[in-house]
Amino acid sequence: MGTGGYGRELLDVVEAVNAIAPDAPAYRFLGFLDDQPDAAPREDNSADADLLARRGASLLGGLDLLATLDADYLIGVGSAGARARIDRYASAAGRRPATLVHPRANLGGDVKLGPGTVVCALASLTTNIATGRHVLVDVGSSVAHDCRLGDYATVAPGARVAGGADIGARAWVGSQATVVRQRRVGAGAVVGAGAVVVDDVAPELVVAGVPARPIAAGTRGGRTLAHGLAEVDAADLADLPPDDVRPPTWPPPPRHEQPRHERSRPESPRPVHQAEIA
Ligand SMILES: CC(C)(COP(=O)(O)OP(=O)(O)OC[C@H]1O[C@@H](n2cnc3c(N)ncnc32)[C@H](O)[C@@H]1OP(=O)(O)O)[C@@H](O)C(=O)NCCC(=O)NCCS
Repeated sequence: MGTGGYGRELLDVVEAVNAIAPDAPAYRFLGFLDDQPDAAPREDNSADADLLARRGASLLGGLDLLATLDADYLIGVGSAGARARIDRYASAAGRRPATLVHPRANLGGDVKLGPGTVVCALASLTTNIATGRHVLVDVGSSVAHDCRLGDYATVAPGARVAGGADIGARAWVGSQATVVRQRRVGAGAVVGAGAVVVDDVAPELVVAGVPARPIAAGTRGGRTLAHGLAEVDAADLADLPPDDVRPPTWPPPPRHEQPRHERSRPESPRPVHQAEIA
């Protein structure tokens, strides 16, 4: 879901997972859903049919199609708030999120990935780590031992989260930022690109710089990027299913070749690095 840059990057992860076993790909990619299919290309190039065509993909329609598609889904939207809303809608429609790990990511032992979490290429999660729902661990980032990443949290490309840190729900750790060990980034907080977090960050706060300090977000040209990244309505977080919808297996068997009633509990799991996908 989502035809912007992040959505199209997720297609890379799907294709890389499928390339593990080209004769029996784990997923059959159906296409993109986006609620603005007829919109002119936006600033981030989303809903640009030409960009999709260059990926050999097409826009199937709006998010409401998910209710009738017999498919698992991924949310390719950067905004944590939007991810929460889509998660809630998809859960209500009975759909299950895919949980994806790029084959060139590094996962250590006892890494529990919540439903819908995506770990991109060259990212690393070492040991005793847990993520919530629809967390994004983006390209080349690293998360060290004993960290917790809350629901809809994002670790942007190249960011570093040191041991024992706690990244709250919906929080954003920007590109190349560092969170030093055992610090807490509160729910909905945003850490600016390149920042070094040496103190706990209060919920919903936007910090930037080295060392990271609160900034007056949105002051340049009236932009409100920070709030777009992390804002969410409390109602969007209600009524979600428990986080136990994924079997502890990776990679999954080819789903499209199985009868639907056999899909949820594959019989011959292939564990990888002892990682657990919740
Ligand atoms: C922190 C951030 C969210 C703020 O965005 P914003 O709300 O639009 O804020 P503005 O651009 O209006 O900047 C507000 C002030 O903070 C400063 N600032 C913004 N980001 C900064 C950063 N990363 N480091 C240092 N200062 C920063 C601006 O210079 C400005 O200062 P001024 O008021 O003295 O001019 C954004 O700049 C950022 O770093 N986002 C991370 C994005 C990212 O990593 N994306 C990965 C996607 S792949």
